Amino acid sequence: MILELKDVTFSYRSKWNKVDVLKGVNCGFERGKVYGIIGKSGSGKSTVLSLMAGITLPQGGDVLHEGVSTSSMNLQEYRRDKVSVIYQSFRLLPLLTSIENVMYPMELRKVPKKEAKARAEKYLKEVEIPENCWYRFPVTLSGGEQQRVAIARALASETHLILADEPTGNLDAENSDKIIELLKTLAKEHDYCVIIVTHDVDVMDKLDVIYRMQNGILVERKS
Ligand SMILES: Nc1ncnc2c1ncn2[C@@H]1O[C@H](COP(=O)(O)OP(=O)(O)OP(=O)(O)O)[C@@H](O)[C@H]1O
Ligand SMILES: [Mg+2]
Repeated sequence: MILELKDVTFSYRSKWNKVDVLKGVNCGFERGKVYGIIGKSGSGKSTVLSLMAGITLPQGGDVLHEGVSTSSMNLQEYRRDKVSVIYQSFRLLPLLTSIENVMYPMELRKVPKKEAKARAEKYLKEVEIPENCWYRFPVTLSGGEQQRVAIARALASETHLILADEPTGNLDAENSDKIIELLKTLAKEHDYCVIIVTHDVDVMDKLDVIYRMQNGILVERKS
């Protein structure tokens, strides 16, 4: 089990109210598989992803990565070395070109520049970003192109855990298929664990395990 959630609870609090989003989530994720998380808007899918990504900590229970609780680790190192995230809103750095965006996480991890560039080119090609986009800034790219650059950036880090919040939300059926196939190949051939939040029924059909976020917990959907 690369990732395990045990009795995870999380609420958003403000001065005036408290929203209980996660009410005791229990589930596990293995390498070699692609998982889907589905559920209504506002049900807590992005919240659970941000706990898995080490962006926030659970208020109750534990998120365990290879048996170690995120509550007891150096989160900065965890985020840098163990997990890659594809955000719902891409979050490309606006002042870096496409290829620099892909190289940036590798630079943080002290990957030699030459290797970082080679990997960036490899993954930009894999997601079919044409070379004329590589040296342009994100604002000049279409939504689907930005999304694919964000995917390349996550893949280029080559961490075994990839979290993606609607990675195909802005892509047409053909591009969406290719991305899902690529993520499946990484899972099957390189033993990655990929967890995808999705609303797309065609995407769901292609995944190994589906969890539904319902009333604050994740329930496995039996097919
Ligand atoms: N920073 C925040 N402060 C207060 N409430 C928040 C915050 N972020 C999210 N929420 C609330 O928590 C609930 C879960 O939000 P979350 O973003 O996890 O949902 P989601 O399942 O990802 O929805 P969507 O499918 O629309 O992306 C929502 O009711 C949302 O309004
Ligand atoms: Mg969301």
